[in-house]
Amino acid sequence: MANYYSNKIFQSITLALVVLFGIWSLESNARILEDSSSSIRERHEQWMSQHGRFYEDFNEKELRFQIFKENVERIEAFNSDGNKSYKLGINQFADLTNDEFKGRNKLKGHLCSSITRAPTFRYENVSVVPPSIDWRQKGAVTPIKNQGQCGCCWAFSAVAATEGITKLTTGKLISLSEQELVDCDTKGVDQGCEGGLMDNAFKFIIQNKGLTTESNYPYTASDGTCNSKAESNHAAAIRGFEDVPANSETALLKSVANQPVSVAIDASSFDFQFYSGGVFTGSCGTSLDHGVTAVGYGVSGDGKKYWLVKNSWGESWGEQGYIRMQRDVAAKEGLCGIAMQASYPTA
Ligand SMILES: *[C@@H]1O[C@H](CO)[C@@H](O)[C@H](O)[C@H]1NC(C)=O
Repeated sequence: MANYYSNKIFQSITLALVVLFGIWSLESNARILEDSSSSIRERHEQWMSQHGRFYEDFNEKELRFQIFKENVERIEAFNSDGNKSYKLGINQFADLTNDEFKGRNKLKGHLCSSITRAPTFRYENVSVVPPSIDWRQKGAVTPIKNQGQCGCCWAFSAVAATEGITKLTTGKLISLSEQELVDCDTKGVDQGCEGGLMDNAFKFIIQNKGLTTESNYPYTASDGTCNSKAESNHAAAIRGFEDVPANSETALLKSVANQPVSVAIDASSFDFQFYSGGVFTGSCGTSLDHGVTAVGYGVSGDGKKYWLVKNSWGESWGEQGYIRMQRDVAAKEGLCGIAMQASYPTA
């Protein structure tokens, strides 16, 4: 009898607790929902101060807030899908539509190139490559830089590859000047903040007989007149450059195993805009619009092969400024066209 009653009492208490807990969790869920919709304005304000963003007037602010809100919602929806190998995140591009973002990438189309392709590929007979390589660990990569609002990715890509070969041949890692390319490499196809090509930048460095340091010719993120005094103060030189045979990730692997390599990619997708970590598997096309630098490759913990790519959008984008892009995909062009137009300087 005693057992029967104590069981009953126990059941009643349990039931009461379950009901109470149910009410409590419904309420807190409702609170969370309310918070997330009302705080998106606060998040926009916080984001504005974090990124030093100011808007001209109320209408502009309202327009930018709506874009920010849509981006946040789309990013959160993407991240709630647990099957993806990469994550998206709010970054400095959060108040730009994807069309506006695309307009910032200014790699000159490869069809515009007047460069005749170098016929040699010095790594063609490379038969053994390490399973992974990270040129940062070998001290051949300078810290992440930020091109800002100037469309000179091509200069950052060429400079990073030049910094790499300079370290490998001289033992010295020297941060080199993108601004010299922006201001002084203007007699050919390259047009400073309006776009250019890595191969043209290599050609300029060869003809100029060198490139000066970042500190001697600092970056301004705008087109300027060539400072010929700084231009003539060489800190690094290259003898030539070679193109990696197009559309072969194997050829790209042989190259990146030996030095950091300039690569052109299609960086225009929403997912690329907001990539924040993991192995990026797309979506993206092959309309090359951005120049970056492959500074390694490897295999992730869950077995995904990737290229380690240095970008020039500051450390708040991607994995502290880097992206791991899926390697050895079915398409011969590589993910986002990474194997289409790769090249490297030679010392
Ligand atoms: C690769 O090997 C072939 C055959 O031995 C040779 O003709 C070619 O010059 C080599 N390429 C390079 C870049 O050394």
